[in-house]
Amino acid sequence: MTVTIVGSQLGDEGKGALVDLWGGNADIVVRYQGGDNAGHTVVENGEEYKLSLVPSGAVRGKIGILGNGCVVNPRTLFDELDTLRDRGLDPDVRVACRAHVIMPYHRVLDGIEEEEKSDDDLEAGTTGRGIGPTYEDKVGRRGIRVGDLLDPDVLRDRLEYVVPQKRAVVEDVFGMDAGEEFDVESLHEEFVAIGRRLEEEGMTVNAGDFLGTRLDAGENLLFEGAQGTSIDIDHGIYPYVTSSNPTAGGASTGTGVGPTVVGRGEVVGVVKAYLSRVGTGPLPTELDGDDEELADYIREKGGEFGTVTGRPRRIGWLDVPMLRHAARVSGFTGIAVNHLDVLAGMDTVKLGDAYKLDGERMETMPATTERWADCDPILKEFDPWPEVDWSAVAGEGYDALPAAARTYLDYLSDEVGAPIYAVGVGPDRAETVELVDPFERDA
Ligand code: GDP
Ligand code: IMO
Ligand code: MG
Repeated sequence: MTVTIVGSQLGDEGKGALVDLWGGNADIVVRYQGGDNAGHTVVENGEEYKLSLVPSGAVRGKIGILGNGCVVNPRTLFDELDTLRDRGLDPDVRVACRAHVIMPYHRVLDGIEEEEKSDDDLEAGTTGRGIGPTYEDKVGRRGIRVGDLLDPDVLRDRLEYVVPQKRAVVEDVFGMDAGEEFDVESLHEEFVAIGRRLEEEGMTVNAGDFLGTRLDAGENLLFEGAQGTSIDIDHGIYPYVTSSNPTAGGASTGTGVGPTVVGRGEVVGVVKAYLSRVGTGPLPTELDGDDEELADYIREKGGEFGTVTGRPRRIGWLDVPMLRHAARVSGFTGIAVNHLDVLAGMDTVKLGDAYKLDGERMETMPATTERWADCDPILKEFDPWPEVDWSAVAGEGYDALPAAARTYLDYLSDEVGAPIYAVGVGPDRAETVELVDPFERDA
């Protein structure tokens, strides 16, 4: 069967921790979109791993696949693999031949365009990894795929077509100097060598075929979503979004496993008990102005600084309309709520229950970002819960959680229309209250 893990909000909900938790019962962990813009954290017995491209099942020794929906920077992939090997892990990662390659010029273009957009406050606050420009070339049918790196002649043809165009954009549109990132010869030399290394290390795969065969043999696949629903290119707060589909549909188009197969499995939405945001754009429940101190408290306690860029994350109360939207788009069969411990010991806990827009109450997100910016949150207040020994609670189970925390969780589950499968009460694998293992549910 398959289990799909999806971010319900704006990324950084703690997806890595859940992939690690349930990865124990998976045979293969598959990323279906995004690239090294992701930063997923796994903590095992106090040992912390930050993973960008290597699927989070690596900590448990599971095969990791980067599906066709991913964009892959081979330089960062090899660096990450080397670092993990130095730390004693033995990651087995295979990359779909159909996945697209982030080329050095994509990163340069990402930086230039963000800079250009910032004059009009249109920049998304990207991670600068070249994600958008790479997906742009994929859709424009001028991208370079992993399979192209295995054939020097094909790679040369592709580069000779695309690189002069990219150079012209930099020089003629933006009036800047194009550097070595735009040199066909040196790109060809480097990426032929990368193709050879991928081949020698057995790292390329026809992912759809491979996964289909493994499923037929009765194996379990865990699809690891990156980013989150509200930064989905189609369902998020465009244009302050990433350029892929983190929502559950992406698990099918991004891997070559059919939507009926994904739909027969479990789809778990990962929810952070409040909001964090590393990018730009509106955020109706943001804790700013008079609430800045509260935001600082949560930011420090929750360690809310970007995994990839180190930027301080913006903080807000949880936004329930955003979750209703996420649950519908992905068809959640369950949710996992993380960071409950971070909200402990506060004077009050609130969430955005609905919005007020033009005097009307709205239960879900409007379709345009500009209308979303006009929404005033209707806040609902909950009794706060105290600090407790979270590790002990994780061992004892759901009923051991403070009563006020359970009230908050039960409310969320009702509003989202999906049962709670897990509650995160700390970063470590052992600091999770597990109610349901989705691999053990009959589909
Ligand atoms: P991801 O991108 O969704 O995998 O999330 P990140 O790894 O970027 O950010 C989540 C951060 O919170 C990481 O530092 C995790 O170790 C940590 N974390 C995950 N779950 C919990 C939790 O329940 N409580 C606390 N305090 N930290 C958590
Ligand atoms: P994980 O998987 C949070 C945000 C960026 C920016 C927008 C576009 O760790 O949850 P991009 O570099 O993708 O073109 O940037 O998306 N963003 C993330 N925010 N978590 C992530 O990943 C993110 N990946 C991208 O901050 O606003
Ligand atoms: Mg992250």
